[in-house]
Amino acid sequence: MKIILLGAPGAGKGTQAKRLESDFGWPQISTGDLLRDAVSSKSELGLEAKFIMEQGNLVSNQLVLQIIEERISKDDMSSGFILDGFPRNVDQALDLELLLTNLEKIINKVIYLKVDHDILMKRLTGRRTCSLTGKLLNIYFSPKHEIDECINNRGKLIQRSDDNEKTIRKRLQVYNQETAPLIKFYKERKSLNIILADKEVDDVYADLLSSLEIN
Ligand code: AP5
Repeated sequence: MKIILLGAPGAGKGTQAKRLESDFGWPQISTGDLLRDAVSSKSELGLEAKFIMEQGNLVSNQLVLQIIEERISKDDMSSGFILDGFPRNVDQALDLELLLTNLEKIINKVIYLKVDHDILMKRLTGRRTCSLTGKLLNIYFSPKHEIDECINNRGKLIQRSDDNEKTIRKRLQVYNQETAPLIKFYKERKSLNIILADKEVDDVYADLLSSLEIN
C-alpha cells in the first residue's frame, strides 16, 4: 500500500504513520525526519536546511525532491510506503506524480488528517520524544505511565527546536498558504479520504484502517 498522509503540523501524521509501519511494515518516509537527520549529520544539505526549519519555513522543493527520490528508489519500498510531510505544496505533488510515473508506481490512498487549529498548538508545544526509546509522547495527552516509564528509566524528554510558539505559528501560517491547497488538488483527482483526527489516537487509527479498507 502506498499512502500519502496530509495534515497540518501536529495533526498526528507521524504518530499514525509509525503505527502503520509497525503493524504492516510499510516504511514511513518523513521528510521532516530525513531533514533533521541531515541537520544532525551537519551535511551540506543539513546546513542549508537548518535555518529554514528553525524559522518554520519550507525547505526548497529541489532539496526535498532530492532526498525523496533517493529514499523512494530503495529496495524496501517495494511492498509500499507512507509519505509523511511530503508533498507539501502543489509543485511537490506534481514532482511526485512524475517521479512515481517514472518508477511505475502509483499512490493507493491520500489521507487527510483534519484537526481543529486550536488543538494543534497544544499538541505541538506538548510534544516530546523519549531519548531512550525514541517514542513520541505528549506531556498533555500521553498516559502518565508512558511519561513515567521514560523518566524512571533515566530517559530524557526531548523537545523539537521548532516546537516553540513563535515557530509553530509560522509553520501553521505556511501550512495554510502552501499545503492546504493540496486538499483541493487531491479532491479534484478523486483520491482524497478525510479523517477527523481530533479524537483519541486509537480512534483515529481505527478510522484510518477503515479508510484503507483493511478491517
Ligand atoms: P515535519 O517534521 O514534517 O513537521 P510538521 O509537518 O510540522 O508535522 P509534525 O511532525 O509537527 O506533526 P505530525 O502531524 O507528524 O504530528 P505528530 O504525530 O508528531 O517538518 C518540519 C520542518 O521540516 C518543516 O517546517 C519544514 O521546514 C521542513 N520540511 C519537512 N517536509 C518538507 C517538505 N516536504 N518540503 C519542504 N520543507 C519540509 O503529533 C504531534 C503531537 O501530538 C505528539 O506529541 C503526539 O503524541 C500528539 N498526538 C498525535 N495524535 C494525537 C491525538 N489523536 N490525540 C492527542 N495527541 C496526539
